[in-house]
Amino acid sequence: MLQQALRISGRSASPLMKWVEKWLESAAFPRRCETYHVKTLEEMPGPSVCSFAWDLFAKRGLSRLHELQLEGRKRYGPVWKASFGPILTVHVADPALIEQVLRQEGQHPMRSDLCSWKDYRRLRGHGYGLLTSEGEEWQAVRSLLAKHMLRPRAVEAYDGTLNGVVTDLLAKLQLRSQQGPGGVVRDIATELYRFGLEGISSVLFESRIGCLDAQVPPETERFIQSINTMFVMTLLTMAMPGWLHRIFTKPWDTFCQCWDYMFQFAKGHVDQRLQEEAERLTRGEEVEGRYLTYFLSQQGLPLKTVYSNVTELLLAGVDTISGTMSWSLYELSRHQGVQAALREEVLGVLKGREVPGAADVAQMPLLKAVVKEVLRLYPVIPGNARVITDRDIQVGGYLIPKSTLITLCHYATSRDEKTFSNPDEFLPQRWLRRDQAHHPFASVPFGVGKRSCIGRRIAELELYLALARILIHFEVRPEPDAAKVHPMTRTLLVPQTEINLQFIKR
Ligand code: HEM
Repeated sequence: MLQQALRISGRSASPLMKWVEKWLESAAFPRRCETYHVKTLEEMPGPSVCSFAWDLFAKRGLSRLHELQLEGRKRYGPVWKASFGPILTVHVADPALIEQVLRQEGQHPMRSDLCSWKDYRRLRGHGYGLLTSEGEEWQAVRSLLAKHMLRPRAVEAYDGTLNGVVTDLLAKLQLRSQQGPGGVVRDIATELYRFGLEGISSVLFESRIGCLDAQVPPETERFIQSINTMFVMTLLTMAMPGWLHRIFTKPWDTFCQCWDYMFQFAKGHVDQRLQEEAERLTRGEEVEGRYLTYFLSQQGLPLKTVYSNVTELLLAGVDTISGTMSWSLYELSRHQGVQAALREEVLGVLKGREVPGAADVAQMPLLKAVVKEVLRLYPVIPGNARVITDRDIQVGGYLIPKSTLITLCHYATSRDEKTFSNPDEFLPQRWLRRDQAHHPFASVPFGVGKRSCIGRRIAELELYLALARILIHFEVRPEPDAAKVHPMTRTLLVPQTEINLQFIKR
């Protein structure tokens, strides 16, 4: 009682009162302090090395990593350890505990130190881009790009460029739906990969590279294919212990070939763009670029840093956009009521105009809720990671030694019924109800904090502009008798089977 009285009266109490309160607390509960025990990694539950390896390799676990998160949480609770090949990783599958990790990540957060992406760059002598660089090097480029990619005004200025790409996507959908029986466009993700690549290229180079042309340039297809294969090989090469690489050389060799082509593709486009600028300068013309490669190249960064950053930005802009667009159209096609309400919202804001801008989509709450809900159900990065290198941290009552790889199980938290009612249902309205507050770290598809997605605002703008205009021009329906499509992990979360949709011209 005395303690409570002190607490109530002492909200703004003097240091003396605070000291008395602390003393009373420890005097009243001395045993709590004595018995508080921080557990060690050894005490943490988790599957044995053999059983996890069995799950990964014999039971298609690599493509089911997102499901293994759900199984792990059910079996071991919110924190468990597992050995992913040679790497021991602590899994954290609770929003409050994920928050605990991210709040202790320090000044220069690191996703993963043991990354085959970094090994490849070291091997070839390439530079690091924003995805793979660390420390001061990362901070320098992050600060520079943040000015052009995260400031709302800067991002809004890309709406014209992105709308040009959306116009081409609409034409392509129109053409493909006329060619397909009953207006069905098969394997919508393929078209949307090209859209993703064209979108990010337009922002990087302020010019078009023809991914949505009738004849898609073969180097574009090869670039997209290289990304896809590289993602599959990423998991495989990381899960294989070093000695196995010497016996089965194919995964690592294929992985390197994919990266080689991706670097070559990016370099070709950067060189071409910089040469055009140089020629204009020689002609005495004024050069003022509004594109990311220009901003990067103007900062006196070594050219190899420009190449690596452009390679990684191109890569980051393809599957992320294509996956989220595919799932959005898939869910909207299966929820005609939501689709109709969304179309109404879009038409209501546009009042007769056909092309929305950034300011218009800002006034479309349902559109934003749809994308949030899609990313809750299908987080592009189902499991992110952090390594805290400078100190041990405590998470959920465990002491996690410094430099341990921590896997943040975003798929498990965003499908947890404790946080989201009917967690497997597509219910965008849940994001519009004020009475339904969720833990802020339960669904964080773009990550949180200093190392979160730098492309978030560009990605959201691109998704909003594309979805709004598709709904103005088409009614989207599932292919008749289509089966449910499930997600699978390929480093990123992607549709396991083709998504085929009917686009009916309005
Ligand atoms: C729906 C679309 C997207 C999603 C869901 C997404 C998600 C993410 C996530 C979860 C991370 C890791 C954040 C962390 O570790 O805390 C990330 C990082 C990153 N993303 Fe995205 N992303 C998307 C689109 C894009 C696009 C279009 C670009 C390029 C314009 C991009 C560029 C990057 C880069 C460069 C990083 C590394 C940032 C850093 O380490 O500082 N992303 N993204």
